[in-house]
Amino acid sequence: MKILVTGGTGFIGSHTVVELINAGHEVVIVDNLVNSNKDVIGKIKRITKVRPLFYKVDVENKKALAKVFNEHKFDAVIHFAGLKAVGESVQKPLLYYRNNLDSTLTLLELMVEYDVKNILFSSSATVYGTPEVMPIKEEDPLGHTTNPYATTKLFIEQILQDFVSANPGFKAVSLRYFNPIGAHPSKLLGESPSDIPNNLMPYISKVANGKLEYLSVHGDNYDTVDGTGVRDYVHVVDLAHGHLLALKAFSFDKAYNYYNLGTGKGTSVLELIHAYEKANKIKIPYVIGPRRDGDIATSYADIEKAHIELGFSPQYTIKEACRHAFLYEKKQK
Ligand code: WQD
Repeated sequence: MKILVTGGTGFIGSHTVVELINAGHEVVIVDNLVNSNKDVIGKIKRITKVRPLFYKVDVENKKALAKVFNEHKFDAVIHFAGLKAVGESVQKPLLYYRNNLDSTLTLLELMVEYDVKNILFSSSATVYGTPEVMPIKEEDPLGHTTNPYATTKLFIEQILQDFVSANPGFKAVSLRYFNPIGAHPSKLLGESPSDIPNNLMPYISKVANGKLEYLSVHGDNYDTVDGTGVRDYVHVVDLAHGHLLALKAFSFDKAYNYYNLGTGKGTSVLELIHAYEKANKIKIPYVIGPRRDGDIATSYADIEKAHIELGFSPQYTIKEACRHAFLYEKKQK
């Protein structure tokens, strides 16, 4: 297939482009490089021996994006482009609604104009809000999201459902990511946010290479195995492979499909720190700080639906993800 990947130079986007190319798909990337770097294109070439076509385009810019659709007959779109910092979304809700919703609406309008019938969307486990029952299943209630970033993901899932209902023959798939971690085993691709990190693993990596003195653990009085927050950490290469597998859903009868992508297991903050220390034979100093506003105690996925319908089965261990993250970060020094 010929696939347009929006946000394809980002953390999950770039790893997905590698999997797509290695599986024989032709990839075209559009990205505005607001939170990524153009040198990722050369790194993808070093890994796959194929240099994907790249256009520096903001997906909200309909005229510029139409030119890309004009030049290529795409079979599908994988839509990663969007702002994704939970904390920033609370400070700047209008920026997040404008950017994440406008870019999606522009993309969908062009898909109709150019008759591109399939879209795979980068959704998030945050659409479940504050789930009570673990593991989280796709049919569990959505909503009561705790930040505008999560709400944009929820809205876009709804937009996609309405879009495929109104456009017979069009198909949409939402992939609800749990907590992506790790880096490409080649050490060429990884999580290098241009701004301050949001998530746990980049913080641990910064402590590991001396850019941070210690990690602040957000609370150790949750009702969990050791009091610290429990999450479903999934290796970014497994997550990327999940996108490759999800392409088959475009041939399913249902026009709108949605899947959890995680490992099905929960890992606490302290367990992750210890796994990182063991994998890399280093110490990660930490202090126990106050809880972080909006945090939930526990979140991990039921991945049976993706396993049965897509054949999704994550291969990498937490320890391997910690090793890959460390080696990538060390290479960035
Ligand atoms: C994980 C655990 C923290 C940092 C995010 C966002 C969003 C989503 C992925 C896609 C929690 C603890 C963290 C630190 C800590 N992406 N922590 N010290 O909050 O589960 O959700 O997941 O949608 O980016 O929703 O991930 O990595 O921020 O936190 O103790 O310096 O680590 O309290 O328990 P989270 P996270």
